[in-house]
Amino acid sequence: MPDPNHSPQAAHLLLIDGGHADLAALCSRLNAAGYRVSQATDAAAALTQLTAQPCQLLIGCATPTQDGMALLEAVREKHPALPLILLAKPGSIAEATEAISAGVFAYLTTPVDHALLERRIAEALRWSGALCGTSATRTDMAWRADIVSSNARMESLLEEARLVAASEASVLIRGDSGTGKELLARAIHRASRRAKGPFVAINCGAIPEALLESELFGHRRGAFTGATSDQRGLFRDAHGGTLFLDEIGDMPLALQVKLLRVLQERAVRPVGTSNAEPVDVRILSATHKDLDRALAEGSFREDLYYRLNVVSLRLPALDERREDIPLLAAHFLAAVARRYGRTRCTFAPDALEALATAAWPGNLRQLQNVVEQSCALATSPLIPRRLVERALHGHTPAALSYAEAKQRFEYDYLVGLLKLTAGNVSDAARLAGRNRTEFYRLLQRNRLNAELFRHPDTPGLPGTAWG
Ligand SMILES: Nc1ncnc2c1ncn2[C@@H]1O[C@H](COP(=O)(O)OP(=O)(O)OP(=O)(O)O)[C@@H](O)[C@H]1O
Ligand SMILES: [Mg+2]
Repeated sequence: MPDPNHSPQAAHLLLIDGGHADLAALCSRLNAAGYRVSQATDAAAALTQLTAQPCQLLIGCATPTQDGMALLEAVREKHPALPLILLAKPGSIAEATEAISAGVFAYLTTPVDHALLERRIAEALRWSGALCGTSATRTDMAWRADIVSSNARMESLLEEARLVAASEASVLIRGDSGTGKELLARAIHRASRRAKGPFVAINCGAIPEALLESELFGHRRGAFTGATSDQRGLFRDAHGGTLFLDEIGDMPLALQVKLLRVLQERAVRPVGTSNAEPVDVRILSATHKDLDRALAEGSFREDLYYRLNVVSLRLPALDERREDIPLLAAHFLAAVARRYGRTRCTFAPDALEALATAAWPGNLRQLQNVVEQSCALATSPLIPRRLVERALHGHTPAALSYAEAKQRFEYDYLVGLLKLTAGNVSDAARLAGRNRTEFYRLLQRNRLNAELFRHPDTPGLPGTAWG
């Protein structure tokens, strides 16, 4: 069904078939959904029709007789603001990427998933403001603008996220590491009534237990050794907004009890005070751990679990949405290419294929790294498969043994220190919290020579800056 908030009656869609087989079925479905649909046999015919009768959206079929990109270019030249949805056979990954980066609104593979197509049509019309003609309609989608996906499961997840955002319910976001949990949390905040309030995130697994309590709830000056001034705490920082408790599965049990009390009372007691200060905060949390197991093992409190998990959203792993890989790769590449000033960078078709078929243990961050490394090492605007393969092989940390991973970390860490200190061993040792003798031993073990990092025009670190 088209979006009920926007009358589809006004929307005129032009379908360019290029000899596509299911077109009659597609047309009647769209008609039934309330759209006005015209057809053109090719791009030239479409352009002629457009001069006579404007439309709000083009749907083009890439077929053996019609190249999707050529179609896009022909239309773009005359109607740059007209959104285009391209339908094409699966497999032409390069075209998908090229099309998306060239500004096609959506790229769907045939046989067409009609429900998805209708959602895309509604979105495209909202984006272009075709139905309401107001810029407010564009912001409808702004909350999720940085979440790239064309996967049906992601779509329904985002739909649920949008619905739940409007409520005050606590949401627990699950998903493997690097699947976009934080990105989704931020999007939910943006789609909520609290969007104008603060979004405060804390990684509960990255902060030592002793500090976590005062980090969350604040403390009074003098509450403990080292508490030299009052601290508000993140709960109060997030007042009127959203607090995102990342890696909630790593929260120590003792603190789980305190957190539960804060959530029940809607008030925090800063460490060192007995006063409860009211807070108005919406809680989103995330974990990559199996919390059900943690519950069974007793390392996560059931009462807290039910408080946090009023609604649960699970992000699919990357290999459950492989069709997103070309889109994501193009999205990440555009960002790094901009950063590196290489705006014309694209993946060679076989390089994209390597990305799309690689084994991804859940992870978009890894994809991002592979894209960045490939772009950084590319010597021409077209990134070859060889570079992608090389980057892929460097990003399989899960396949390393613990000893190998540790060794690799140690080496990279030491190199980082030596670069930072321009080979000054005393400074590097100080930063590492080791004495010079120990540090030399570490260098030796990693066959590193500090001299190689020295260069005459870079002085060592000024002693005071790191003291
Ligand atoms: N759908 C998406 N579209 C575009 N970028 C994405 C998408 N999902 C994730 N990313 C990017 O991938 C990276 C990882 O995402 P994020 O930090 O949200 O994942 P996470 O699940 O919180 O990871 P971790 O478990 O490691 O904390 C980020 O740079 C994010 O911007
Ligand atoms: Mg995260």
